[in-house]
Amino acid sequence: MSFAQSRAVEGLTEPDNSAPSSKVDLALSVRGLRVKFEGQTGGIIAVNDLSLSIGKGEMVAVVGESGSGKTTLTNAILGLLGSNEVDGSIKLGPAEVINANKEQLRNLRRFELATILQDPVGSLNPVRTIGSQLAESARAAGIAKGSLCDEAVAKVLADVGLDKAVVSRRLPHELSGGMNQRVAIAMALLKQPRLLIADEATSALDVRTQASVVALLQKVSAEHGAAVLLVTHDIGLALQACDRVAVMYAGRLVEVGQASALLTGARHPYTQALLAATPRYEDRHQRATAIPGTFEVSRPGDQGCPFRNRCPVRQDRCDTSFPAPSRSGVGDVWCWNASENA
Ligand SMILES: Nc1ncnc2c1ncn2[C@@H]1O[C@H](COP(=O)(O)OP(=O)(O)OP(=O)(O)O)[C@@H](O)[C@H]1O
Ligand SMILES: [Mg+2]
Repeated sequence: MSFAQSRAVEGLTEPDNSAPSSKVDLALSVRGLRVKFEGQTGGIIAVNDLSLSIGKGEMVAVVGESGSGKTTLTNAILGLLGSNEVDGSIKLGPAEVINANKEQLRNLRRFELATILQDPVGSLNPVRTIGSQLAESARAAGIAKGSLCDEAVAKVLADVGLDKAVVSRRLPHELSGGMNQRVAIAMALLKQPRLLIADEATSALDVRTQASVVALLQKVSAEHGAAVLLVTHDIGLALQACDRVAVMYAGRLVEVGQASALLTGARHPYTQALLAATPRYEDRHQRATAIPGTFEVSRPGDQGCPFRNRCPVRQDRCDTSFPAPSRSGVGDVWCWNASENA
């Protein structure tokens, strides 16, 4: 039982499942984040009053279907959105990202933040060897040229299970997708980042390679102390790989909790629908249940629950207001129905 859960059982405090145990150093703390885009068809609230923290050495997944705002959240953390689009607070350790100036953002991206994307080859230079690109990343991370740099590159390659002698002279297209993803993780490790963001980084890989890359990310968080934010459509993968899982729907966090507890104790109808749509391996011959209805983005002025049009337990007040979190040892859930049954 986690520290937060044991305190909840004792009735001493309400656990806040959007944050790790209160004893953990926070690597990332997002508070009241709101992102609004102006589109051709009107405004979109891509992230709506979202709060989530990740502790040092913790691995947290953000899951949700396409358009739910996962990448917008990571873009906000990376300081890539316009100041007129973003509101709230995002802290990386002690540093505030929102309203940071250009130089502060450059330093945060250079030393504190690392990203691994779905297509690692796309983020590597196709005509330069892996070795020279790693050496450049090492220098960008402040590691001096020469033997120190060679040692650092050899070490991170060994950490990700690659042999420097084999891969350094190769070009990205000469390596497999899984090997390139390992190179991307090695590059990230050179920075010793506070936070590593992996946005759909395993989606394009076959199941075995996906498992080995996920195991590597777990090693990065456990051994290097980096906080890892894993963004994925796949709730099964998230529950298997991460300490905590945060479920987003149309910009809102609708449920967050310990992965082990959410697997059997999910309370939000959307989380339950996502789980039903992901058959377990032993049930693989059964047809997955599609979530009925269609996804709609949140618009400015809509105060209701964004899932209400697809929700089997919708109530009248779901049309007009979004609930405060209902907290338990399983997790936090934002649902009128769950808060009634708490
Ligand atoms: N720069 C932008 N300008 C206008 N709308 C945007 C912009 N970026 C994202 N959006 C919209 O914000 C919403 C959330 O998009 P986002 O890319 O964050 O979703 P996602 O959860 O990452 O989806 P996916 O799983 O497909 O990657 C979508 O409706 C998208 O069209
Ligand atoms: Mg995305």
